[in-house]
Amino acid sequence: MLMKYRLFTPGPTSVPEATLLELAKPVHHHRTGEFRAMFNEVQTLLQYVFQTTKTVYTITGSGTAAFEAGFVSTVQPGQKVLNISNGKFAERWASYAKTFGTDLKDIKLEYGQHIQPADLEKELKAAKYDAVVLVHSETSAATVCDLAAIAKVVRTTSPDTLLIVDGITSIGAMPFKMDEWGVDVAITGSQKALMLPPGLGSSPCPTGP
Ligand SMILES: Cc1ncc(COP(=O)(O)O)c(C=O)c1O
Repeated sequence: MLMKYRLFTPGPTSVPEATLLELAKPVHHHRTGEFRAMFNEVQTLLQYVFQTTKTVYTITGSGTAAFEAGFVSTVQPGQKVLNISNGKFAERWASYAKTFGTDLKDIKLEYGQHIQPADLEKELKAAKYDAVVLVHSETSAATVCDLAAIAKVVRTTSPDTLLIVDGITSIGAMPFKMDEWGVDVAITGSQKALMLPPGLGSSPCPTGP
């Protein structure tokens, strides 16, 4: 009997058959008007997913590659970065920020906890940060933060501080309003809520540090 292969992971999620059938179609030439039209349509649809009017940069790589691209495009070595660590993925971003040579403060919380907006406000009043980095949905600990409230604190307490959000398992799966909330850089991966194969990471972000 042919057994159906099933993935029981938080992503890659199962790719719907209709998508698999699309993938089976002949490839388009990537330097044609036809491809350009498709690319522009995908851009518009991704802007809807992120709820943003910013350009969404999609790269061939996983979500981690998109994070790295978004991070190094907006933060410079030596700049002050505040990372909120409450799980494996948040810890990964702390190690990136450190390796990249930023002046990192890493707030370490118990897995399952998230920073309270009032605590973040205190932190932002005590020191000036160039960027705050956090994970919206920390998959390793199944924790979602109140990103709307957190973003409001950043925007009102320290308007010039960039808010960089790993939305890899939240964007497309739960409300995410990049422009309305004031998120500067957001990241997702094709294999999560978008239910595509892994290998594409998307990140709308401002251009240049
Ligand atoms: C919250 C979060 N961040 C980052 C990643 C890493 O994403 P990728 O495997 O696409 O590099 C994952 C993967 O599960 C994740 O859930």
